[in-house]
Amino acid sequence: MKILLTGGAGFIGSHLIEAMLRNGHDIVVIDDLSTGNRAYVPAEVVFYEMDIRDPKLVEIFEAEKPDVVCHHAAQMSVLISVREPLLDASTNILGSVNLLNAAKHVGVQHFVFASSGGTVYGEPTRLPSAENDPLLPLSPYGISKLTFEHYLRISGLRHTILRYANVYGPRQSPHGEAGVIAIFTERMFKEQETVIYGDGNQERDFVYVTDVVAANLAAIEQRIAGTFNIGTGIGTSVNRIYELVRHATHYPYPHRYAEAKKGEVYKIILDCQRAHEILHWRAQVKLEEGIAETVEFFRQQIAWGA
Ligand SMILES: NC(=O)c1ccc[n+]([C@@H]2O[C@H](COP(=O)([O-])OP(=O)(O)OC[C@H]3O[C@@H](n4cnc5c(N)ncnc54)[C@H](O)[C@@H]3O)[C@@H](O)[C@H]2O)c1
Repeated sequence: MKILLTGGAGFIGSHLIEAMLRNGHDIVVIDDLSTGNRAYVPAEVVFYEMDIRDPKLVEIFEAEKPDVVCHHAAQMSVLISVREPLLDASTNILGSVNLLNAAKHVGVQHFVFASSGGTVYGEPTRLPSAENDPLLPLSPYGISKLTFEHYLRISGLRHTILRYANVYGPRQSPHGEAGVIAIFTERMFKEQETVIYGDGNQERDFVYVTDVVAANLAAIEQRIAGTFNIGTGIGTSVNRIYELVRHATHYPYPHRYAEAKKGEVYKIILDCQRAHEILHWRAQVKLEEGIAETVEFFRQQIAWGA
């Protein structure tokens, strides 16, 4: 299959490339490298450095004629979305609509979208949250992700919406404001101060990146449409994550608490039964294993002076 992957130079996108190549797909990547890394895209992959908002996007579709679009390019920080809602809406809504128009223009068969189960439900009415639960996002980021879900719903295109929990793993940026495991790991290895925002009892559903990749491949290769939560169904507090990473990195210093960040949900855990039944997918990687892999990645990066 020929897959056009947006955001392929990013954290999740780069893992998707590896798995898609392994499964014999042709890949075309579009990424503006705003947070992505060109080195994460192997030479055999066709790469276009372009903003998804660019009117010339359609020319890439005309030239490449992909079968599938797998859409991962985004402004992905809740905090940036609170500070700069226009930037968030411009990329995540207008850019995504530009992409959808281009996909329709050349008759793409299937559109897969990386949405956010951690934000579209807002503060959930019940835990774990299922796909049909109320959708009341608390941040512009959650709103922009949910808005594009609606564009897809009325698009007439076969589509799959994957609502990810908190994704973590190697290559996640510790320099952004999301990705608490990457942030703690890097700061601990560099013996820098560590801060927990809020009381640390806030819970998240942490899903390892290779499990997220497997969900994308299940949707693409089995051509399954629908909306699916992609998480573990298990809540873990930020305090617990802190302890696990501290243990794995042997960080000897205490942390401090600071005021909770605006726009963030207090507790979110995803009910992933539908993905299990329809996509035949279930998260496989245990938190301790995933943290060990992630910590090992950062250990090597730091040893190489990255
Ligand atoms: N990491 C998570 O926990 C998580 C959770 C839910 C959903 N998601 C979604 O998954 C997707 C990938 O997230 P990630 O964690 O890999 O983030 P990332 O920042 O590593 O990757 C995003 C990629 O998109 C590119 N990009 C950003 N704006 C662009 C634009 N206007 N045009 C073209 N390319 C652009 C960036 O350069 C980067 O390579 C995003 O859509 C994000 O919203 C991530």
